[in-house]
Amino acid sequence: MCGIVGYVGPQRATPLLVDGLKRLEYRGYDSAGVAVMNGKGVETRRAAGKIARLEQVIAEEPPLGTLGIAHTRWATHGPPTERNAHPHLSHDGTIALVHNGIIENYSALKQSLQARGYVFHSDTDTEVLANLIQEAFAGNLEAAVIEALRQVEGTYGIAVISSLDTEKIVAARKGSPLLIGLGDGEYFVASDASAILRHTRQVIYLDDGEVAVVARDGYRIVDLDAHAQDKPVTRIEWDLEHIEKGGYAHFMLKEIFEQPTTVSNTMRGRLILEEGFSKLGGLNMTREQLLSVDNVIITACGTSWHSALIGEMMIEELCRIPTEVEYASEFRYRNPIIGPNTLCIVISQSGETADTLAAMREAKRRGAHTLGLVNVVGSTIAREDHGGIYLHAGPEIGVASTKAFTSQVVALALFTLKLARLRDLSVERGRQIAQALADLPKQIQSILDRAPEIEALAEEFKRASNFLYLGRGYNFPAALEGALKLKEISYIHAEGYPAAEMKHGPIALIDEMMPVVFIAPHDAVFEKVVSNIQEVKARKGRIIAITTREEPSLKGQIDYEFRIPETVDLLTPVLASIPLQLLAYYIAVKRACNVDQPRNLAKSVTVE
Ligand code: AGP
Repeated sequence: MCGIVGYVGPQRATPLLVDGLKRLEYRGYDSAGVAVMNGKGVETRRAAGKIARLEQVIAEEPPLGTLGIAHTRWATHGPPTERNAHPHLSHDGTIALVHNGIIENYSALKQSLQARGYVFHSDTDTEVLANLIQEAFAGNLEAAVIEALRQVEGTYGIAVISSLDTEKIVAARKGSPLLIGLGDGEYFVASDASAILRHTRQVIYLDDGEVAVVARDGYRIVDLDAHAQDKPVTRIEWDLEHIEKGGYAHFMLKEIFEQPTTVSNTMRGRLILEEGFSKLGGLNMTREQLLSVDNVIITACGTSWHSALIGEMMIEELCRIPTEVEYASEFRYRNPIIGPNTLCIVISQSGETADTLAAMREAKRRGAHTLGLVNVVGSTIAREDHGGIYLHAGPEIGVASTKAFTSQVVALALFTLKLARLRDLSVERGRQIAQALADLPKQIQSILDRAPEIEALAEEFKRASNFLYLGRGYNFPAALEGALKLKEISYIHAEGYPAAEMKHGPIALIDEMMPVVFIAPHDAVFEKVVSNIQEVKARKGRIIAITTREEPSLKGQIDYEFRIPETVDLLTPVLASIPLQLLAYYIAVKRACNVDQPRNLAKSVTVE
C-alpha cells in the first residue's frame, strides 16, 4: 500500500524523507515523491518506479528545506507514472499533498472544480483534494483542509503543506492509518511506525475524523469541528533490526524461520497445560457473555480467510456453536443476519485491510460483539474492535503472509480451547490439545531443519505452469493457503481444492505435467485421501505428499514424500503449511521473482 512520511525540525528534510520512504518499501508501491518547503515555496521531486529512481532525480538538484512530506504510491486511480506520483500540487502550486486511500466522489468534484477554472495535471483522485484545499484557503492551512475534507466521500490519510502557511504540516485520517512521531525538537508524520523508528519510538495514532497540525514547536490534534483532542502517546516496542532481514536473503525467509519463536510468542502466558485451558486477557467478554454466544461469524481476506476456515472447523467441532466464514469484501455488502448473541471474529495481520475493517464496523453496527485477531498493535481494527487477541508475531514485512498465518491458527486454537472448556470439552481432551499446542515450536523447528529437502524439490518443479493442492477437513484450507503462497510469489497458477472435489472437474487437468500436492496426514480421513492419490496416479499426475507416517498403501503412488510430525487434527495445518511456504519460496527464488514485493501485490490492502 501507499506510504506517507512527513518531517519538520532542524534537520534537512529531504534525506530524512527518502530514508523514511525506504523503510516503507515493503508495503508495495510503483512511484514515489517528495515536497519540501524551500523558503520561497514548495519544491517537489517525483519519479515512477522504485525509490532509487527518485534518488537520482533528487541528486540532480536536491530540494533544500527543513519541512517536507513524501509518499510511495500503489496505483489505484491512474497508471504508475511520474505525473500521477505524489505529492500533488494545487492549481496555483501553493498546496502540496500526499494521500493514501480513495476519494469516491472525486470525479464529480473534479468536474465542478474544472468548471471553476481549475486545471488538472494527473489522473488521480488526490489532485482534487489539493485543489479543494486551495479553494478553501483563507490564511490558515488546517481550516482549509477541514473545509475541503467536508466535501470528500471515501477514505484518506493525508499530509499537506502550503507556501502560504509555511511552518506546519497538516495531517488527517479517515480509514487509512496515520500517526504523529514525537522527536527531540522535531516532529514526524507517517502511515507506519517503521518509517520513523530510527528517530523516535513515541507516537500518537490518529483516529478517523482527526486532524493534526505539526509544527517546529509542537503539535495539536483536533476533530473536524476543530475541537482539541487529547490523545495518548504510545511507545513502539519493535526494534528496527526486527524489521531488517536478520541475515536472511529475504524478509519472507526470515519470517518462515521465525515461526518456532512467533508461535511460542502467540501462546506466551496464555496456555494452562495442567487444566487444558487458555487465558486470554483481551477478549473483554465475561464468562456469561462467552457462554451466551449462539453463533459465530469469522470474516477476513486472503490468507487470514484461510485461517478463518480452520477456526470455523475448530469452533464447530469443539464448541458445538454454528460458525460461518465470510469474505470481508462480500460480508460488508450483504444483509447478514446478526443477532444479540452473535460473535464476529475479525482476522487481519495488518489490522488495516479496508474490507475487513468495513466488515467489522458493519457487524458492530448490527450489534455483534467483535473480536480482532490482529498482529499490528495499535492498528485500526485493533483499536475499534470490542476486544481481541494480539498475535505477537512481530512485524511481517514479506507481502506473502507466513508467520501471521500460523499464529492466527494458534490464536484460534487458544480461543477455541477457552470457549470449549467453558462448555462441554473434557479436561483430558483439553490437556491433549494444550500439549499439542505446546509441542508445536519444536515440531516446526524439526521441519525447518530439513529445508534443503524442500529446496531440492523446488528445483524439480520450478518450471511447472500449474499446480493443484488437495486436502480434506482441516487441511482443505491448508491446501488453499499452499496454493496462494505459490501463486502470489512465483506467479505459477495454483489452485487449492477439497481432495474429493477434484473428481468434479479439476481431474480433467491431471496429466504428467501437473504437479499435485496432497496434504495427507494420518487423520480421520486419511484412507479417503489415499483413494484420491491413486486416482491422480492413474492419470500420471506427479504427486508430492505431505504425510505423517510410513504407509504401505502409498508405496509406488507418490513421486515425492515429505514427512511432518504428528499432531492433533486441528493443528495439522500449522505443520503442513511450513513445507508449503518453503516450497513456494524456493520456487519463486529459482524463478528470480521479487519474493518480498511480488508484482501487483501490497502488504496491506487499505483500499476497497
Ligand atoms: C497473503 O499472503 C496475502 N498477502 C494477502 O492475502 C493477505 O492475507 C490479505 O490481504 C489480508 O491481509 P490482512 O491479514 O492484513 O488483513
